[in-house]
Amino acid sequence: MKTGIGELDRVLGGGLVPGSLVLIGGAPGIGKSTITTAALANLSAAGQNVLYVSGEESAAQVRLRAERLGPHALGVPIVADTDLEAVIETLERERPDVCVVDSVQVLYDPTLTGAPGSVSQVREVAGRLMRIAKERGIATLLVGHVTKEGSLAGPRVLEHLVDCVLSFEGERERTYRTLRALKNRFGSTNEVGVFEMHEQGLVEVEDASARFVNEATRAPGSVVLCAMEGSRPLLVEVQALVAPSELVPPRRVANGVDRNRLALVLAVLARHTGVSLGSADVFVSVAGGVRVDEPGADLAIALALASAAKGIAPATDRPLAAFGELGLTGELRHVGHADRRTAEARKFGLESVIQPTDRVRTLRQALGVLFRDAESASQAA
Ligand SMILES: Nc1ncnc2c1ncn2[C@@H]1O[C@H](COP(=O)(O)OP(=O)(O)OP(=O)(O)O)[C@@H](O)[C@H]1O
Ligand SMILES: [Mg+2]
Repeated sequence: MKTGIGELDRVLGGGLVPGSLVLIGGAPGIGKSTITTAALANLSAAGQNVLYVSGEESAAQVRLRAERLGPHALGVPIVADTDLEAVIETLERERPDVCVVDSVQVLYDPTLTGAPGSVSQVREVAGRLMRIAKERGIATLLVGHVTKEGSLAGPRVLEHLVDCVLSFEGERERTYRTLRALKNRFGSTNEVGVFEMHEQGLVEVEDASARFVNEATRAPGSVVLCAMEGSRPLLVEVQALVAPSELVPPRRVANGVDRNRLALVLAVLARHTGVSLGSADVFVSVAGGVRVDEPGADLAIALALASAAKGIAPATDRPLAAFGELGLTGELRHVGHADRRTAEARKFGLESVIQPTDRVRTLRQALGVLFRDAESASQAA
């Protein structure tokens, strides 16, 4: 069943499977209720029987959100209840095709001793909902809380139980939100959906690359990474700042990239190219609040750091693009989908793309390309 939200359907592997159980986790206020309400609104407009079980908010609150989201959302039937027994009864009676349970942590079974959200309660609630979902063919979207560290709250068994685990990420202060599958029995876990929070709810960002490229600067420390998010190429800006430090050890701040990856890139830079940042604070972030988690990001991070350290901007009119993995001996490694990554860069007018090739085999050579171009440009000027 298509939810009518293209980015969500893609992450789900083509849509919702009848009778499946999908867990959507995310930080408070990220938009879990918004996206699930919008999905139900579309499904109901397409003639499916839907039901929204809200344990966290009153029916009036859910209505208020629905008003923001448009007329279809107002037509979604709401049940505000936290008693598992009552919810199961309603599901048996209404037999919806799709239902949302917001959230799995607030439902409780009064016959059990634990408080709502405790391991025994969550396990029981999820187990019972799974049984009815499979028996009656109700596609069920469970909204789940996350812990302070960002992993899904509740017992691990919850993740085993469900068919898909989706994670909704992003920084609350930023408008971009990403949705990715951590587990999917019906599709790939590489797909990522990009959304933006608006007055009218979450809006899909289909041209995410264009947005990020247009916002990219040409200052020292800025390099566009040609990333692959599942089957889709995505251009994101990697920014680096290198500043003298007064701390021992100096700061290493990574936003949107893995800290270990940053440490590796710094070590390779120091050891194999002579760009040593041991006494400097280093900040690296992916603009727009997006996370990139692939080895192909190494080269872009390294180039951004080197360019920030030397204060030299890429010479091109348009931002410089790069992708490639760094080996521990300073060599560049090929990563998948090189042609699709370069095609995406070309599509948005980025002509200079530094990547592993026969002529650029090491990080040192890649830096050579970056700085030679910058030098010849400044001489010409
Ligand atoms: N009028 C508005 N215009 C723009 N954004 C809004 C508006 N009203 C709410 N929002 C956004 O919607 C977010 C809340 O969305 P939602 O209730 O779907 O989140 P949630 O993940 O379900 O949160 P919770 O964990 O509290 O249930 C707010 O953080 C805010 O960013
Ligand atoms: Mg909510």
